[in-house]
Amino acid sequence: MRQTLVAGNWKMNGSLDANRQLLDGIKAGVAEGVSAKVVVCPPAIYIPQAADMLTGSPVSWGGQNLSQEKAGAFTGEISADMLTDLKCEYVIVGHSERRALYGETDALIAEKFQAAQAAGLIPLLCVGELLEEREAGDTEAVVARQLDAVLDKVGIAAMAAGIIAYEPVWAIGTGKTATPQQAQDVHAFIRQRLAQSDAGVAEKVQILYGGSVKPDNAAELFAMADIDGGLIGGASLEAESFLAICRAG
Ligand code: PGA
Repeated sequence: MRQTLVAGNWKMNGSLDANRQLLDGIKAGVAEGVSAKVVVCPPAIYIPQAADMLTGSPVSWGGQNLSQEKAGAFTGEISADMLTDLKCEYVIVGHSERRALYGETDALIAEKFQAAQAAGLIPLLCVGELLEEREAGDTEAVVARQLDAVLDKVGIAAMAAGIIAYEPVWAIGTGKTATPQQAQDVHAFIRQRLAQSDAGVAEKVQILYGGSVKPDNAAELFAMADIDGGLIGGASLEAESFLAICRAG
């Protein structure tokens, strides 16, 4: 049985004051009891604040991105070791905004996945198709290409220690959620593709759904056989809506 995981991707939002309120709210709600594993991914500059506030609570924290390089003259970048220094357990890799706005390629994302694991972080690998790719019937081909780039680099055994998030790009921040069945179909496809290399790993890997998950649609998404939780953007910025999603797990 795979545990449900709900991760909040704050993107470039927040301030010391707003984060304090949000983290206090999340901590208090989680302390009342949720069965899902709860993770928050603040902007890197606020990770120390999250670490200070969340140490000793069941809520974990992670980065939104990392460098594939270990250390050195890479202005503006943050390494895997820096994230682990701040006790991050997770890091998002290959988010569609990184792919679309910052030119991250499948090959670079595979390097980042590997760098994260080498430092002991759990990479949360995002895959997903654009609207035109879905309309052209290319969803599975796109997701397979994104997945295979990482699989080919790190191997199936390493995939067992990672998490995958299926995030159809057309559903991110648009209010257009994939239907539970649309999401389930792609999740099942991902699991099947992993099973071609190793059925045991495929069964074990958590596959999250992301894209306009809200309190009113989380339960039906998380109830699908191959959906093991969610990666939450907009709705993770408010404690009550994030907690409602965590409770749906
Ligand atoms: P959204 O973002 O929940 O605001 O659609 C999800 C994501 O980008 O991870």
